[in-house]
Amino acid sequence: MSKNFKRILITAALPYANGKIHLGHLAGAYLPADIYARYQRSMGRDVLFVCGSDEHGVPITITAEQEKTTPQVVVDRYHFQNKKVFEDFGMSFDNYSRTTLPIHHETAREFFTVLYKSNILRSKKEKQLYDEKAQMFLPDRYVEGTCPSCKNPDARGDQCEKCGTFLNPTELINPKSKITGERPTVRETNHFYFPLGKYQERLQNYISEANKRDGWKPNVLQYCQSWFNDGLQDRAVTRDLNWGVKVPLDGFDNKVLYVWFEAVLGYISSTKEWAEKIGKPDEWKKYWLDDSTKYVAFIGKDNVVFHCIVFPAILMAWNDNNSIKYILPENVPANEFLNYEGQKFSKSRGWGIDVDEFLKYYPADTLRYTLTMNLPESRDADFYWKDFQSRTNNELADILGNFVNRTIIFTIKNYDGKIPSKNSLQTEDEEMVKKMDEARYLAGECFEKYKFRDGTLEIMNLARQANKYFNDSEPWKIIRTDPEQCATKINICLEIVRTLAILFEPIMPVTSQKIWKMLNLPGMPSLTGWNQAGKFGLIEGSKLNEPLILFKKIENNDIQNHISDDVMTEKENVSAINYEPVKPVITFDEFKKIDLRVAKVIDAQTVPKSEKLIKIKISIGNEERQIVAGIAQHYKPENLIGRKIIVVVNLQPAKLMGNESNGMLLAASNSSGKLSLLILDKDIEEGSVVK
Ligand code: MF3
Ligand code: ZN
Repeated sequence: MSKNFKRILITAALPYANGKIHLGHLAGAYLPADIYARYQRSMGRDVLFVCGSDEHGVPITITAEQEKTTPQVVVDRYHFQNKKVFEDFGMSFDNYSRTTLPIHHETAREFFTVLYKSNILRSKKEKQLYDEKAQMFLPDRYVEGTCPSCKNPDARGDQCEKCGTFLNPTELINPKSKITGERPTVRETNHFYFPLGKYQERLQNYISEANKRDGWKPNVLQYCQSWFNDGLQDRAVTRDLNWGVKVPLDGFDNKVLYVWFEAVLGYISSTKEWAEKIGKPDEWKKYWLDDSTKYVAFIGKDNVVFHCIVFPAILMAWNDNNSIKYILPENVPANEFLNYEGQKFSKSRGWGIDVDEFLKYYPADTLRYTLTMNLPESRDADFYWKDFQSRTNNELADILGNFVNRTIIFTIKNYDGKIPSKNSLQTEDEEMVKKMDEARYLAGECFEKYKFRDGTLEIMNLARQANKYFNDSEPWKIIRTDPEQCATKINICLEIVRTLAILFEPIMPVTSQKIWKMLNLPGMPSLTGWNQAGKFGLIEGSKLNEPLILFKKIENNDIQNHISDDVMTEKENVSAINYEPVKPVITFDEFKKIDLRVAKVIDAQTVPKSEKLIKIKISIGNEERQIVAGIAQHYKPENLIGRKIIVVVNLQPAKLMGNESNGMLLAASNSSGKLSLLILDKDIEEGSVVK
C-alpha cells in the first residue's frame, strides 16, 4: 500500500524549554523517533531527523516571573541543558533548533501573513480576563480557577489537568490572576481565529487515506475521531503577550502568535536551519515540498490534536493559497504515557526522575533498552526500578553480554583470537543460521510499523537462542573431540555477534559500537547496514580485539536507594508551610562545641513496636556506634545502609524505647511533616569533620 518514497523526514515534538527532560518524555516520543531514524539510516535510506526547543508560551513567562528573571534566561538554560541531555542519551538528531531564532520567527510570520492575506484568518472581538493591578490580559495559564466541568478548584485557564477539558479562561469559576492573586475583570480584545471547522472533512479524508497507506495507530485514530465527533471549532491563533512571535500587522503591538500555531512550524524552521548549516540553504525543500518524501511526526498523546488536526489544516490552508506546497505527515505514531513506579510523572510533586540524573548512575544504553521494552505504544506503561534492574541483569548482562563475551573469550583462548573457519554445517547449525537471518526480517517488519518493543524482542530472542546454541554445542568439549565442528560453531556464534551488533544499533548504539570494536570490524554497524545482518560477513582468520565488559550488573542496594525516598515522601500532603521563627543568637564558640561528622550507615533496622524509630549502626572512621532516629515514616531501613549522613557525635547519650542512642543524625523538615536527610555533595570518608 505504501508509496515509493525516496526519503524520510522525521520530527520529534519540540520540548518546552521550561523544564528538564524526564523518562516519560523519552518513552513518549524521543526514543521511538530515534530508533526509527537509526533503523532507517541503517536501511540506507535518506533520512533527516530534526527537533528543537519550543521556547514560547505562557508557562515559560510564568517561570520567568517566578524566578524574577526574563524568559530568555529561562529558555537559554533549558535549551542547552536539554540539548546536552539528548546527546548523552544518544539521540541522533541532524539538527536541534530553537523557536526563538530569527529563522523561526520569519517562517512563522510568513505563514501567518499568507493565511491573513488569503482571508483565511478572521478577526474577532472577544472578552478576555484582565488583571487591573498588573495591567495585562491573562491568557491561558495566567488564570486559575474552578473547572466548570469537574469542579476541580485548581484548573488552569487553558485546560483542567484533572478531567482533561480544554478551557477558555473566561469559563473558569472564581478566576484568580496568577500574577497578583486578584480577581480579574473582563475586557474586550481583538484576536485572529483559524476556521478549523471548515477543514474537518478534508482532514478526515487525509487521515483515512494516510491510514490506509501507512497504518496509523488505533489510539491515534481514536483521539482524532473523538475530536471530529465533537466537531472542530475556530481556534484563536494570537494571544495578548509580549513573549513570542510578534503578530506582523500594525495595531497588534502587544500580541504574539499563539504558541501552538507557531511551534509546529518549528519543524520547518529547524530543517531550514540545518540546510543553512550544511551550506545548502535550499536543501530543506527536498524534505518539505517534495511528495516523494515520507514525513513521520513522533509525539506523545497530549499532542495529537495539534499534529493530526491543527498542523495539517494550517498546511492545507497554505497549500490552497500558494504555489509552494508542503507535504503532510504520512503518519503520527503517538505514544501513550509512561508512569513512574505506578504514578504520573509530576514536576510540581517532585515525582519521577530526570534523564540527566539517571545518566549520572547508569549508561544510556541500559535505559534505552529498558524503556524500549516498556514503551507505552498502545496503552500507558510504567518505569519500575526493579524492572530496570532485572532487564539489565537478566537480559542485557546474562543473555546478550554473556553470549558475546563467552564467544569472544573462547575464540581468544582457543584460536589465538582469530576467527575460525566454517566447515560443513549440521542441521542445528543450519537452523541457527536461518534464525539469524530471520531476526533481521522480523525486527525490520516491526520497526517499519512503529512497533519498537516487538522488534526489539525479536532481536533479544536471537541472542537468547544463540546462547542456547552455544550451550548445546558444548564447544569446551568438542574442541578436543571434533575440532572441525567446534570451529564451525564458533564461527557461526561470531557471525551472530556481528548480526546482533547491527540489529541492536538503533536501540543501543554505544553497545553496538563496542561489539563492533571487539570484532575488529571497520566503520560502524549502521554503515555496514541493516541488510547485511544475518549474512556471513566476517573474514575467517582475521583477528579479534580484547573483550570489553558490555553490561555491569546492578545490585539490590543500588536500586533501593533510588526507589526509596521518592516513593515514601510522596504520600505527604504539601499544604501551607509555616516557618519557624529564628532562634536567639549564639556565639561562634558556642557553635563550635557541636561536633558534626560524616558517618557511614553500616546497618539499619526498625525498632520493634515503634512506628517512628529506626536503629542505625554507623561508622565514623575510627569508631562504630548506634544511634536511634525518628525517621521510619520517611525512609526504609534497607535504603539507608551504605549511605553517608551527617551526625552530631558529642550529644549526651539517651535511651529511646530501651535502645541506646549515641549521637543524632541531621535532617531537614518542614511544618507539613516532610523530612529530608542531609547528605553530601561529593563522596568523602566517614569521620570527616563538618564545620
Ligand atoms: N512543547 C510541546 C510539548 O512539550 C510540544 C510541541 S510540538 C510542536 O508538549 F511541534 F508544536 F513543537
Ligand atoms: Zn475539570
